[in-house]
Amino acid sequence: MRITITQIKEMKQKGEKITMLTAYDYATAKIVDEAGIPLILVGDSLGMVVLGYESTIPVTMEEMLHHTKAVVRGTKQAMVIGDMPFMTYHISVDDALYNAARFIQEGGAQAVKLEGGVTVAEKVRRIVECGIPVMGHIGLTPQSIYQFGGFKVQGRTPEAAAKVLEDARALEEAGAFSIVLETVPAPLARIITEKVNVPTIGIGAGIDCDGQVQVINDILGSFADFVPKHAKQYAKLTDIIRKAVTQYDNEVKAGSFPTEKHSSSMDESLLAELAK
Ligand code: KIV
Repeated sequence: MRITITQIKEMKQKGEKITMLTAYDYATAKIVDEAGIPLILVGDSLGMVVLGYESTIPVTMEEMLHHTKAVVRGTKQAMVIGDMPFMTYHISVDDALYNAARFIQEGGAQAVKLEGGVTVAEKVRRIVECGIPVMGHIGLTPQSIYQFGGFKVQGRTPEAAAKVLEDARALEEAGAFSIVLETVPAPLARIITEKVNVPTIGIGAGIDCDGQVQVINDILGSFADFVPKHAKQYAKLTDIIRKAVTQYDNEVKAGSFPTEKHSSSMDESLLAELAK
């Protein structure tokens, strides 16, 4: 049985920290699931760290579904959350419902995430009413980088901070089971965490959130283009991969790979027959 939204909400009440990571493929999801991470997000960060887009904006429903299915196949206990891409939930409630349902029905996810607060609250309410758990996402919402003028800290002025708090309250009221707080000052994240009853999951939002989320490529050091300030590299996979690839290249060129160990033998008499 996979982890449920009730268990996630109970973790906040018990003061247990909630860990969430992104995953985009079967093999990685399997490792994350086996490590006991309760929440796996198939983030639209897929666009940048896997597909090589400049932002998350070009990511499509079809791309998200393709990767969500792979992550679901690799997991048994984690809740898999599908990230609704740009403009798949803004135009109308019907659109939002239709696309959220695709994540659950076609993708096999157990919940969806979408960006925005007050402006998307009505859509969140309808999706939840139809039985689909929703995770909110406020603060620096990467689908709005053109509006923000880049990947900038949000909620720094009194008005901006009040707006982030208002967004959190709107999401809670609409029925979101948890809320991602991205790149907001740590003291603001602490206040929001105290004021809402649903768990807050921080990324670049300080230690006081109920949980933390990171893009897996950032913590593994497998995405070389840039490392966000909020990320800690627990490994440097790009160096390991580069070394392995170079060694393979050298061995193929030198004729030292493959060896007998990596090859199959053949029956001697058949060989003799063929050689005639
Ligand atoms: O797309 C993503 O990976 C995200 C997380 C950073 C929260 O939205």
